[in-house]
Amino acid sequence: MKKWIVTLFAMLPSLVIAAGANVPLDKANNDLSDQASLQNGAKLFMNYCFGCHSSQYQRYERVARDIGIPLDLLKENLIFDPNVKVGELMENAIPDEAAAKWFGAAPPDLTLVARVRGVDWLYTYLRSFYADSSRPFGVNNIVFPSVGMPHVLEELQGIPKPIYETKVINGQEHQVVVGTESDGTGELNQEEYDDAIRDLVNFLEYSGDPVKLERHALGWWVMAFLVIFTIVVVLLKKEYWRDVH
Ligand code: HEC
Repeated sequence: MKKWIVTLFAMLPSLVIAAGANVPLDKANNDLSDQASLQNGAKLFMNYCFGCHSSQYQRYERVARDIGIPLDLLKENLIFDPNVKVGELMENAIPDEAAAKWFGAAPPDLTLVARVRGVDWLYTYLRSFYADSSRPFGVNNIVFPSVGMPHVLEELQGIPKPIYETKVINGQEHQVVVGTESDGTGELNQEEYDDAIRDLVNFLEYSGDPVKLERHALGWWVMAFLVIFTIVVVLLKKEYWRDVH
């Protein structure tokens, strides 16, 4: 049993490198207690991601309640299919097989993606698309090379141009994309785009673990209770010891 655990830990670094392809990740610094950010993230998700990706382990109603969106606003603005009821799961109608044909890979469900990939990976991934005419959709991605997903946020960011650096890999020189620069065609500037992605990632982190929001809120009550309780205990102790002395 012990041996088994040691082997597992020994494998961890190699798994991490495989997933991240050695690209340094930017910090998401998202904040689950920021409700406006969660709401904006939900809006971006429904508008730009839900066409292809589902979030099938959560219900519209619960999401609306958790992040403070009134149900009628949710129905009017964020549920685009009139047949869908607020109590339903956030599934979508894109068939996996057809999607796999179009994109080379089916778009995975995103409910738990923040737990699998981590928020910093997501934040970096969504800011790492760049123009690459050799790819079917004209874009590639630094942290997910040859990705099947188009740059769906092109409207907001434009299609950044790659910045190359020459690196020696296994004794040979290679041109490697190390960063991107704006092509100036997006609706948002760099800072606004980063903020939008932070909100989107915030929403995805919430989706992966909705109870976290409650834990955060509960945490403050627990701290307040401990403080009050400590005061009471100190006063009591004083009271008791007064008679002893
Ligand atoms: C046009 C369809 C489409 C849209 C819209 C879309 N995606 Fe994707 N996405 C894909 C496909 C296809 C893949 C699988 C890529 C692959 O495996 O090569 C993917 C993969 C991903 C992955 C990687 C998942 C993993 O762990 O491998 C993430 C994260 C992701 N998408 C997030 C988003 C977000 C966030 C949005 C909204 C801003 C979005 N996607 C919008 C098609 C789409």
